[in-house]
Amino acid sequence: MKRLKNIIKPNLVLLFATVIFSALLTSCKEDSKPKLLMVTEATFPPYEYHQNGKIIGIDPEIIQEIARRIGYDLVIEDMSFDSIITAVQTGKADIAASGITVTEERKQRIAFTVPYVMSEQLIIVPEKTDIRKPADLKGKRIGVQHGSTSDLYVAKHFQNPQRFANAALGVAALVSGKLDAVVLDGGPAKVHSARNPGLKLLPEALVHEEYAFVLNKKDKELLTKINGALTAMKEEGLVDEIIRKYEAEMKRQEQEKKKEKQSFLNALGDSIEINFIRDKRYMFLVRGFLITLQISFFAVIMGIIIGFGVAIIRSTADQTGKLKFANTLCKIYLTVIRGTPVVVQLLIIYFVIFGSVDVDKVLVAIIAFGINSGAYVAEIIRSGIMSIDKGQLEAGRSLGLSYPQTMFYIILPQAFKNVLPALGNEFIVLLKETSVSGYIALQDLTKGGDIIRSQTYDAFLPLIAVALIYLAVVMLFTHLLGILEGKLKKNE
Ligand code: ARG
Repeated sequence: MKRLKNIIKPNLVLLFATVIFSALLTSCKEDSKPKLLMVTEATFPPYEYHQNGKIIGIDPEIIQEIARRIGYDLVIEDMSFDSIITAVQTGKADIAASGITVTEERKQRIAFTVPYVMSEQLIIVPEKTDIRKPADLKGKRIGVQHGSTSDLYVAKHFQNPQRFANAALGVAALVSGKLDAVVLDGGPAKVHSARNPGLKLLPEALVHEEYAFVLNKKDKELLTKINGALTAMKEEGLVDEIIRKYEAEMKRQEQEKKKEKQSFLNALGDSIEINFIRDKRYMFLVRGFLITLQISFFAVIMGIIIGFGVAIIRSTADQTGKLKFANTLCKIYLTVIRGTPVVVQLLIIYFVIFGSVDVDKVLVAIIAFGINSGAYVAEIIRSGIMSIDKGQLEAGRSLGLSYPQTMFYIILPQAFKNVLPALGNEFIVLLKETSVSGYIALQDLTKGGDIIRSQTYDAFLPLIAVALIYLAVVMLFTHLLGILEGKLKKNE
């Protein structure tokens, strides 16, 4: 047992150090002004996009100025577009600024500010195409961003579109020939089509729209303040100025890209430069990796604690007939958790259970994955306990040990050793399952790769890099587990 401790201890210290370090990295300074939490989906240039590790664009800049004028400190969070309105509606965020179109249906659930810009839905097609006007979209493979007005429009007037988490992924699918057209808001449609040489825009708009910011219906006072500031900014011409500034910036980036195309020939080197080095994009992977580690590490610990607890209750109930009520609760827990997908559990914990309280999302993920893993660990440990010969329990008892003593000193250590490979398996699964954290807008490793993908339209390198990092962690873990198993065997 001492040896076991010696192996585990240094590794634990190392992991704790990583975790604390990454917590420091992600935490931000405290300030006295109230916080204004803005949510957005930042693959929507020029309205919102990532650059040099920051979310910038027309929306962040307008909201930043509004926050300054009404005395708030702005915090920006990136999440999937289809979660944005829910986040405001459930009080998770104060304001949504994400090129959001005003629609009657949305007005029933949330409040809009005064509009700040006109927009339209445009159609992006390949250079060579038989789609010339909107009506030609009938029967074609059309890509849209999930939950956007493009999505609603195409579904209503044409056919079911192919829904992508963000517009850039749809554009990437169009580039690689998996779609015939992408329907997208004018601003980003111009940027995305200009950045991809094989694509063009149809001149005719599908429909005209108006953007506004979104607030919770309950926040009447805040809405009045924001409307006041926004109206003033519009009158001063500041809103138009910000819009022109970013449109000019898009043009500049386009020119830069064109120049590069001529001077670079080395495809892979170029690709590495664009996907990882430029704008410090590798930081999406580094930060994502730290979040993935943080979530997995604490979820594993939580899973083990829950798992052991449940397994002991279940076996005790089986063997002694005691703890009936606790046993029933455990059975319900196992059924519910193992009977539903972890993504759904994560979303329920985030949006329903912690719906109206402000909790750290990493913590939410740890709780969700911890509770989930606990169920599987419980059954693994229980099978370990059952694998120990009944005679051992009797022997322990006849030596004068109590039932708990026999359990802790005789049964559990052997059970643990027997199920070590199965436990290792469970932790590997857990690590990889955390890749759905992006659903609650956590920027874990997978999401980090997605953000790069949405900026570079390159599926290959970002996905391969993400896969290699997971693989490396799993291999390292398997190796450590092997050492642990060996040491345990020697101790026999
Ligand atoms: N205007 C469209 C809508 O309201 C799409 C907005 C998408 N915005 C974004 N940041 N991804 O549905």
